[in-house]
Amino acid sequence: MSAVFEARAKLNLSLDVLGKRDDGYHEMKMVMQSVSLCDEVELDLRPDVEIRLKSNLRYLPGDERNIAVRAAKLFFDEFGITDTGVDISLKKRVPVCAGLGGGSSDAAAVLRGLADLTGIRPAGDELERLGAKLGSDVPFCVYGGTRLALGRGDELENLSPLPDCRIVICKPAFSISTPELFKLLDVKNLRCHPDTAVIIGMLSEKNLVEVARRMYNVFEDILPRQYGEVSVIKSRLLDCGALGVVMSGTGSAVFGLFETENAAKRAFDELRGSYKDCFLTEPTGNISIQ
Ligand code: C5P
Repeated sequence: MSAVFEARAKLNLSLDVLGKRDDGYHEMKMVMQSVSLCDEVELDLRPDVEIRLKSNLRYLPGDERNIAVRAAKLFFDEFGITDTGVDISLKKRVPVCAGLGGGSSDAAAVLRGLADLTGIRPAGDELERLGAKLGSDVPFCVYGGTRLALGRGDELENLSPLPDCRIVICKPAFSISTPELFKLLDVKNLRCHPDTAVIIGMLSEKNLVEVARRMYNVFEDILPRQYGEVSVIKSRLLDCGALGVVMSGTGSAVFGLFETENAAKRAFDELRGSYKDCFLTEPTGNISIQ
């Protein structure tokens, strides 16, 4: 039995870090949004217990170093499935190490897809809780939509959807290491925080312009100088008419929100000449499984 599942990229409309936790992680407050840009995850159940992975990116590991393989193993272990394996075929489109949740979303799609193919109906937030064992962004990626993420990023609350808009995502050639950037962060020294409550209020008022204007990511404040290209891309998106621009997660991808398809297309055409990883996409609601 096989099927293809979408692993949608995630964006941080806002990202705040409130403090360091006793477990070494940080306490987060983020407004998360899924978008139509996605990887494709094909799952083909096997009559043995092997878990195999191949992808269109040759350098991605096909063993347990890959979070999608760990997701499959966790799913089979958790639900006591001892007579089934899976071939995972990843078609990667979301750039890796970009702050777009590509790997997390692949893992989430494996959890969702295996539930679908094996006929297991997880109760409530069971898949999200399973996802939290794999990584902080995996729970959000299970169903996506527009949500507030608290705690490590794994405590989720539904928000009003981001109003209809177009989004241009652009990643500079370099990547930024998430653990390294967290290490540079000293919450006491942050000069500015997003007003998350106001952003949530503007979402419920369907006020795209005010959401876009208030997007903010505290990591931008501490970006080492060698990552100056992030600001260059932000300026270019704003010059092209973006309502607001911000870096996603720990970067290095940046995105801008646009009111119309035409405006977004102009920005996309302008930037894709300079950047290989440039995408025109749109927000998506949460995925419901039967
Ligand atoms: O949870 P995940 O494995 O995706 O996190 C990657 C790294 O990011 C962690 O090892 C940690 O250094 C940092 N992190 C953090 N606080 C969070 C989430 C991630 O410090 N809430």
